Amino acid sequence: MSQLLGGKISLELVKPHRYRVHYHILRGEQNIGEIELDHIAWRSGEAELKIDIYDGEMHNHGYGTDAVTTLLAQAFLKMNLKRVYLRVQANNTNAVRCYEKAGFKKEGRLHRLTEWNTEEEIFLMGVTKTQFFKHNQLWAM
Ligand SMILES: CC(C)(COP(=O)(O)OP(=O)(O)OC[C@H]1O[C@@H](n2cnc3c(N)ncnc32)[C@H](O)[C@@H]1OP(=O)(O)O)[C@@H](O)C(=O)NCCC(=O)NCCS
Repeated sequence: MSQLLGGKISLELVKPHRYRVHYHILRGEQNIGEIELDHIAWRSGEAELKIDIYDGEMHNHGYGTDAVTTLLAQAFLKMNLKRVYLRVQANNTNAVRCYEKAGFKKEGRLHRLTEWNTEEEIFLMGVTKTQFFKHNQLWAM
């Protein structure tokens, strides 16, 4: 099983698919969540990131930022993607902060009606390969 090592967590590949890579987020042996790149568009080099750390007790320990950073390094270094994007509810401050720490920038916002007829604000966020390496000052491209 393919594993990516982060600083605090590791990512274990669940099942690769042509247009989706899906990982379990492991803290030691414990599976604390999942992260994926979905809608991979190989021609344009883009994909959508989604993440969920199941237990609220596990939030705010840096695991999310570590998982996102580790997956972005894989996306840009090994998969040769050019840009990763996501959608997040504007009031999910924890998630927005996590994404910004990993290098994402807000690119736009939209308002939409929920199924309960209330309005919600969504941030569209993205990070290019160049922005990611500049932000993290990792390895040379
Ligand atoms: C979103 C999620 C992946 C983030 O992972 P995490 O491990 O909790 O995030 P991190 O600990 O790496 O970073 C969170 C940051 O948000 C900050 N934060 C938390 N609550 C905050 C608030 N109310 N206002 C501002 N900042 C806040 C934390 O202090 C931390 O920043 P810091 O390191 O500068 O102090 C995780 O919380 C999660 O899975 N949530 C449930 C599912 C979800 O919302 N998924 C995203 C859908 S788009």
